[in-house]
Amino acid sequence: MSDLLASLTPIERIGEGAVLLRGFCANDGEALMRAVRAIEAEAPFRHMVTPGGRGMSVAMTNCGRTGWVTDLTGYRYEACDPTSAKPWPTMPDIFFDLARRAAAAGGYPNFEPDACLINRYEPGARMAPHQDKDERDFTAPIVSVSLGLPATFLWGGLARSDKTQRFTLHDCDVVVWGGPSRLVYHGVAPVKNGGRYNLTFRRAR
Ligand code: SIN
Ligand code: FE2
Repeated sequence: MSDLLASLTPIERIGEGAVLLRGFCANDGEALMRAVRAIEAEAPFRHMVTPGGRGMSVAMTNCGRTGWVTDLTGYRYEACDPTSAKPWPTMPDIFFDLARRAAAAGGYPNFEPDACLINRYEPGARMAPHQDKDERDFTAPIVSVSLGLPATFLWGGLARSDKTQRFTLHDCDVVVWGGPSRLVYHGVAPVKNGGRYNLTFRRAR
């Protein structure tokens, strides 16, 4: 996106330190999806298992210096893909640049993500409300990019029992949360149609 367009992106404040940037990566949508395809060729999407033994409905892969994984032994970051024992694919520049620009637009300059979790939602897939808390420190924000078909984003509070707001996230919408919102519970309602992808950028280490 040109700087002019970026400066025109409507910024919707959804919480303290949290913003929804509608259509923020609209100019890069196709290039971002091409990069997802290239990553998938090296590190295919897979359904991981939670420590409780449930298969996740969302299929996942990663790129970057480290990647988020779960299995029966717990949630954690790993430098290598457990399926291939090879390092996760390098984070493409187009990913890194987008995450940095979105973080800056949300009030977090100098974001340096080292991890990008890529989620693929097939029909019926959902993400139960959770906190992103496997990272080493919580000073860096989370940048979450939606690609493809829409989904309902669940945005709660710092306690699991807090009231939840719902936002429809469309292709190329970006949500950024950090600071007082860094540990807010969030999730995705079951999607009717497949073909939704999400890129979650984090500073994990
Ligand atoms: C996540 O919290 O890991 C996924 C959020 C999303 O898919 O929008
Ligand atoms: Fe999350």
